[in-house]
Amino acid sequence: MKFAVLSDIHGNAPALRLALADAAAHCVDGYLLAGDYCISAPWASEVVAILRDLPNSRIIRGNDEAHLDIGPGDDGQFEASRWCMSTLSREDKTWLDGLPEELTFTCEGVSIRMAHSSQVFVGKSLHEKFRTSVLPGFYPDGPASREELLSDFRRLWEKESFREYIHALPQGVYIFGHNHIQTWADFDGRVLVNPGSVGMPLDCGEFGAAYSLLTIEDGRISVEERRIPYDMEDLIAQVKATGQYAAARVWTEIIFSEWRTVREKVYQFLHHCERYAASIGDDRRPFAKSTWEAAYAEWAEHAREWFPELFV
Ligand SMILES: [Fe+2]
Repeated sequence: MKFAVLSDIHGNAPALRLALADAAAHCVDGYLLAGDYCISAPWASEVVAILRDLPNSRIIRGNDEAHLDIGPGDDGQFEASRWCMSTLSREDKTWLDGLPEELTFTCEGVSIRMAHSSQVFVGKSLHEKFRTSVLPGFYPDGPASREELLSDFRRLWEKESFREYIHALPQGVYIFGHNHIQTWADFDGRVLVNPGSVGMPLDCGEFGAAYSLLTIEDGRISVEERRIPYDMEDLIAQVKATGQYAAARVWTEIIFSEWRTVREKVYQFLHHCERYAASIGDDRRPFAKSTWEAAYAEWAEHAREWFPELFV
């Protein structure tokens, strides 16, 4: 059996179509989807239509699916979430809401478990917290390449505390996403697979639709990481022509910045927004639209100088 493993599509239907075309060319037998389907790029309803039609699929929910019923509001912080969810039909939301948090099944005698976050498998270890936002802490002298990022993962995996978590697990395949970093590793028959992000890769590598092929044959497990490059500036031009750009410009510009650098920016921006709000004595959360936009204006002017490692 060969599966396409996909996660973190985040409304990016063009990237999803590319990944699925590549998977079809590799003659996959089925599809495993690990959550976060709708928020950030403006094509949530197209993404859900594609997912609902996928044959031989097993699909779980991610943390974004917790915002399905986000109500009206006048803050700036959640305007993108509000806009993306407003494009979904009631049927789409019901379908998304019915997805399980976790799944376990067996394929050719191999146990396969799926959850959006690796925390479900390895607890609140550093692994769960390993996001590209922490990289400046790892690399005070310069930028992180994908190779540096993977070497840090390897160091993390060698830690005794992490080995204890892993070896407490039964053998099998463990599929998760969430941090948008494409990785996989085999720990004595415990195979961790993070296919990265189809719609918003953040692993300091090449921009493109990331996903992984998982093959199980005669009890043997193999993984092949795939990344399908495409024209990101063309994607940005398409997004600018949608209502999302008008309705949620700040969030959408931050997404553009993440696409252009393949690095996380949201957490740094939220941190900056906290600092800015404190400086003007604004304790409203979620952030007011005026605070959100003023903080972004400052961020857009200075982020390159404050976080040079994010702009290589
Ligand atoms: Fe995500």
